[in-house]
Amino acid sequence: MKWISILITVSLWEMSQCQYEEDTHWWLSYIQNQFYNYDSVYEEDRPPSSQDCPLECDCPPSFPTAMYCDNRNLKHLPYVPSRMKYVYFQDNHITSVQDDAFENATGLMWVVLNNNQISSDKLGGKVFSKLNNLERLYLDSNNLTRVPSSLPRSLRELHLSSNQLNRLPSNALEGLENMTALHLHDNQIQEIGGAFKWLKSLVLLDLSNNNIRKVPDGLPASLQQLYLEFNHVSTIPDEYFRALPNLQYVRLSHNQLSNDGIPFNTFNTTSLLELDLSYNSLRRIPPVNTNLEHFYLQGNQITEFSIGSFCKIVDITNFSRIQVLRLDGNIIQQNAIPPDSPLCLRHAGLIDI
Ligand SMILES: *[C@@H]1O[C@H](CO)[C@@H](O)[C@H](O)[C@H]1NC(C)=O
Ligand SMILES: *[C@@H]1O[C@H](CO)[C@@H](O)[C@H](O)[C@H]1NC(C)=O
Ligand SMILES: *[C@@H]1O[C@H](CO)[C@@H](O)[C@H](O)[C@H]1NC(C)=O
Ligand SMILES: *[C@@H]1O[C@H](CO)[C@@H](O)[C@H](O)[C@H]1NC(C)=O
Ligand SMILES: *[C@@H]1O[C@H](CO)[C@@H](O)[C@H](O)[C@H]1NC(C)=O
Repeated sequence: MKWISILITVSLWEMSQCQYEEDTHWWLSYIQNQFYNYDSVYEEDRPPSSQDCPLECDCPPSFPTAMYCDNRNLKHLPYVPSRMKYVYFQDNHITSVQDDAFENATGLMWVVLNNNQISSDKLGGKVFSKLNNLERLYLDSNNLTRVPSSLPRSLRELHLSSNQLNRLPSNALEGLENMTALHLHDNQIQEIGGAFKWLKSLVLLDLSNNNIRKVPDGLPASLQQLYLEFNHVSTIPDEYFRALPNLQYVRLSHNQLSNDGIPFNTFNTTSLLELDLSYNSLRRIPPVNTNLEHFYLQGNQITEFSIGSFCKIVDITNFSRIQVLRLDGNIIQQNAIPPDSPLCLRHAGLIDI
């Protein structure tokens, strides 16, 4: 039962790492390796529950609802027995998934298909439509040009990063009210026609490294983490973040933001804890709320350390909660820090100029 404690540790780790997490798959293969060891001991007399397991896969007797078929040079999807809830097909050469692929396995909760070569034309339009328990779908690092159609409403996490998506039609994600995390980074998305308005439970939206010029409209009020780094955003509409009262983490580094494109109080919203505006074209520090804790402004063209961007008034209750402030790679002089800064920035552990 080692994997249970691993799962718990991992989910704690994931929570503490909700920022800058890179790869959420590594632990899947970790857990799997635990099973492989177990399996090899019993390989000789496979229990009856394993008899329906496709030869090219592993179905660990200790976990009868999981099937591991990853990293085995597969070109075709193996048959999926009806008892399965978790299926792992990542790291193969699968190019197509037919409409009936999961016909007899409607209890599936996780389908892991990342790092294959599935193209949109060869992904059945109804392949996921009857999977009414499906919660996680991993299709990242494939050859998709469209969001898969008929996604079940039970879906909570959808991974489509590192594909070739270039647009998100407004009905592409219709009805997915339970979706909490949507990973779309590393595509070529330009157009987003209000596609996110359906996602009433969305917490994390990762659109980094696309071709987005305009911040998306109609984001759900539930959103907490918005990642837009490495795009071409130059302006943000007035009051944009006011409609997002739960937003805590915003990453907009490596875009084309200038002070002219940002209405005065854009980032002065009480919920923000972390704001990354590094590697843009800012000349001044935009005003932020005193609740902000991490503020990244490195790699801009800022000339002045304006303490008024952090505190309008300084007294016992009015001061900035900034802990980390990065201003390196700008054109501010070391001696430009105003003498009253320590009172305003009294929580700052790191100020990098
Ligand atoms: C599903 O099960 C039925 C009845 O056992 C069988 O005829 C059919 O071939 C199965 N479908 C797939 C895709 O294997
Ligand atoms: C999928 O994309 C990769 C990389 O762009 C390419 O090498 C491969 O041929 C494509 N496969 C298919 C089936 O389109
Ligand atoms: C959405 O989540 C709720 C709460 O977990 C659950 O009761 C409901 O069945 C889910 N909706 C769908 C369509 O699966
Ligand atoms: C942020 O907005 C509040 C009111 O919403 C205002 O009192 C405060 O001075 C503003 N902060 C800055 C740095 O402009
Ligand atoms: C900040 O200062 C103003 C004016 O002195 C005061 O009304 C307010 O309660 C103070 N505290 C906060 C958290 O704004």
